[in-house]
Amino acid sequence: MPDPLRILVLHGPNLNLLGAREPAIYGTTTLPEIDEKLLAAAKQAGAEVAAFQSNHEGALVDRIQEAPARFDGILINPGAFTHTSVALRDALAATGLPVVEVHLSNVHAREEFRRHSFVSPIAAGVVCGFGWRSYVLGLEGLLGRLRDGV
Ligand code: DQA
Repeated sequence: MPDPLRILVLHGPNLNLLGAREPAIYGTTTLPEIDEKLLAAAKQAGAEVAAFQSNHEGALVDRIQEAPARFDGILINPGAFTHTSVALRDALAATGLPVVEVHLSNVHAREEFRRHSFVSPIAAGVVCGFGWRSYVLGLEGLLGRLRDGV
């Protein structure tokens, strides 16, 4: 049996409020429920996930910098930092790990400022618009890419 693939799941600012936060846009599923769904999907795929949420850019950068020693890939919803953070993008790029960017909402169907992502150009793939399912779809894509190389 090969070692299980290990995925770091990162949630950016305000995602701790999921469930109560603008439910018409983000749905009513809470962050712990999303993490549970990811855990179950990973288990079924023979992989492992560890999840971390922070409202602080530097805390996310710290976790990203530590990732290469412990993980094979990163699944991230950078929240509002998607549209603002060169620091997150640089940290993700520096890991050399495949990164999949996910969003609950379809950021392209919302305000103009949400259409630009600093992360997308260095991501292996992007999933948005499927609510909590964006995370599960993103995980599936990331594991497939790690197994098949594309
Ligand atoms: C989000 C979209 C971002 O524009 C927003 O700032 C978020 C959530 C999403 O998952 O749809 O916090 O990343």
